[in-house]
Amino acid sequence: MITGLLHLHNFLRWFALIAIVIALIRSFGGMSNKKPFTKPDNLWSLLTLIAFHLQLVLGFALYFLKGWHSQLGEMSDKLIRFYSIEHSLGMLIAIVLVTVGRVSSKKMENDTAKHKKIFWYFLIAFIITLVSIPWPFREIVGRPWFPGM
Ligand code: HEM
Repeated sequence: MITGLLHLHNFLRWFALIAIVIALIRSFGGMSNKKPFTKPDNLWSLLTLIAFHLQLVLGFALYFLKGWHSQLGEMSDKLIRFYSIEHSLGMLIAIVLVTVGRVSSKKMENDTAKHKKIFWYFLIAFIITLVSIPWPFREIVGRPWFPGM
């Protein structure tokens, strides 16, 4: 079961990245050209939120099932430090930013202000996500591009 969850967590990363990139492109175009905030704009920010929240649930499950929480004292080990703190905390911050960005954009009256809110919150979340992913080229902590590779 744990392997299945890990594979799903690995695969859903692409869904989360594609959704946030599309939401970013749409909101950038929307705020630069003062376009109305349309249904597809809303849909892509919603899909981003869903993907990030699914990753949160899977990530937390893996965190406890694989016992990373019990290794918090071993910060001198790069692998332990990465998964028990850096990856988890970084992603948690990104997920909060995506959530706050979307929720606060909903409260804006003006469409350009909605695009702007989403763009800036999602951009920071995107950068933190890219930095926190265990890409295959990262030493020690690196994991495959796709599940089971
Ligand atoms: C959008 C958010 C996230 C993305 C894109 C993401 C991405 C990834 C990727 C690509 C892996 C490697 C999977 C593999 O080994 O095949 C991974 C592993 C992991 N992630 Fe995440 N993650 C996210 C959020 C989180 C969160 C919020 C937590 C915890 C609170 C978390 C905890 C973990 C853990 C514990 C592992 C597995 C380490 C192991 O093999 O034991 N992740 N994550």
